[in-house]
Amino acid sequence: MIHTPVCDLLQIEHPIVLGGMAAGHTSAPLVAAVSHAGALGTIGLAGLPADAVRATLATLHDTVHKPFAANFLLFLAQDESFTAALEHPPAVLSFAWARPQQALAPYFERAHAAGAKVMYMAPSVPEAVRAAKAGADVIVAQGSEGGGHVGWMGTLPLVPMVIDAVAPLPVLAAGGIADGRGLAAALALGAQGVLLGTRFLATSEAPIPERFKAAIVQSDGHDTVLSEIPDVASGLVWPGAMARTARNGFIARWAGREWALREQQAQAAKQLAQARKDADADNAILYYGQDAGLIADIPPAGQVVQRMVEQAAAILGRRLPEALRQG
Ligand SMILES: Cc1cc2nc3c(=O)[nH]c(=O)nc-3n(C[C@H](O)[C@H](O)[C@H](O)COP(=O)(O)O)c2cc1C
Repeated sequence: MIHTPVCDLLQIEHPIVLGGMAAGHTSAPLVAAVSHAGALGTIGLAGLPADAVRATLATLHDTVHKPFAANFLLFLAQDESFTAALEHPPAVLSFAWARPQQALAPYFERAHAAGAKVMYMAPSVPEAVRAAKAGADVIVAQGSEGGGHVGWMGTLPLVPMVIDAVAPLPVLAAGGIADGRGLAAALALGAQGVLLGTRFLATSEAPIPERFKAAIVQSDGHDTVLSEIPDVASGLVWPGAMARTARNGFIARWAGREWALREQQAQAAKQLAQARKDADADNAILYYGQDAGLIADIPPAGQVVQRMVEQAAAILGRRLPEALRQG
C-alpha cells in the first residue's frame, strides 16, 4: 500500500491518475476500471459540446462508484461545455493548456464553488506557479517524454523544480511513467503520485482500436517524435505545445513539409479521420509516449494499477533499503 497526502485530498487509495485523454481516448468503462481499482479515472471532455458533456457525465455518475475526474483543455474556451459540467460535477476537474493571457482563477473558482477539487497540468515551472497562484489544489508536472501534447522539459528535472516552486501544494509526475519503477522514482523526487496516459491506452478497456494498442506494445519506445504535424493537420494551434506521436507513415510524409500540409490541411484532416476509422496505424495519428518501450501487454486497467503499486512498494520497501545498508 502506497499512501500519500494527495490520496486523502482526492479520496483515492493509490496515488495514480488516468490522464484525461480527449478525442475518444478515454471512456466510461476505462474511467470506471481505473477508479474502481482505487486510482483516479479521468474522462477527457475537450472538444465535446455541452449536450455530450452532460450525457457523458451522467453515464459516469451512474457507472462509477468512486471518485473520478473530468478534463478540459482551456485554450479551446468551451464555456458552455464547462458550465454543463458544473451542473453535476465529478469529484475533480482537471485542466491543461491555457493560453498565456487566459485567466485561470475564474475556472478554478467556479469548479471549487461547484464542490470539485482542481488539478492543473503544467509543462513548465512558470505555468505551474501561475496555476498555484490561481488556486489549484494539485499540480501535475508533465515532462516531454509523454504521449500527446507536451512541452520542452524532461520529467526528471521538471518534477523537483515544480515541487520546489509550488510547495506545499501536492505535485504529480507525468510523462514517461508506465510501471512501478516510475511511480517509485516519482515519489523519490518528492512527487505525491503519478499521472499516466500511454500505459492506460494499452489496456482492455481503452476505447481505441486494437491495432493502435498493438502498435504501443510493439513499440520499443524509440519510434516517437515531437512535431507540429498533428496540429497543422487538424488546423489547431496549441499554446506552447508540440505533439509526441509514433513516427509512422503519415508523420514521415509531412516531416519538413509542414508548409505543404498547411496548404492541403482540409484533405489531410479527411484522410486522417478515415485512417482512424479504418484503424490504419500507419496513416492515423498515434499519440503515445517514450514509455511505450516499457509496455508489453494489454491487461485490464485495474491490473495496471495493482501491478504498479506492488512493484513500487517492493522497490521502496526492499530494494532501496538494501542499497542504503550496502552503501
Ligand atoms: C492520446 C493522448 C491524448 C491526450 N489528451 C489529453 C487531454 O485531452 N487533456 C490532457 O490534459 N492531457 C492529455 N494527454 C496527456 C496526458 O494527460 C499525460 O500528460 C501524458 O499522457 C503523460 O505521458 P505518458 O503518455 O508517457 O503517460 C493526452 C495524452 C495522450 C497519449
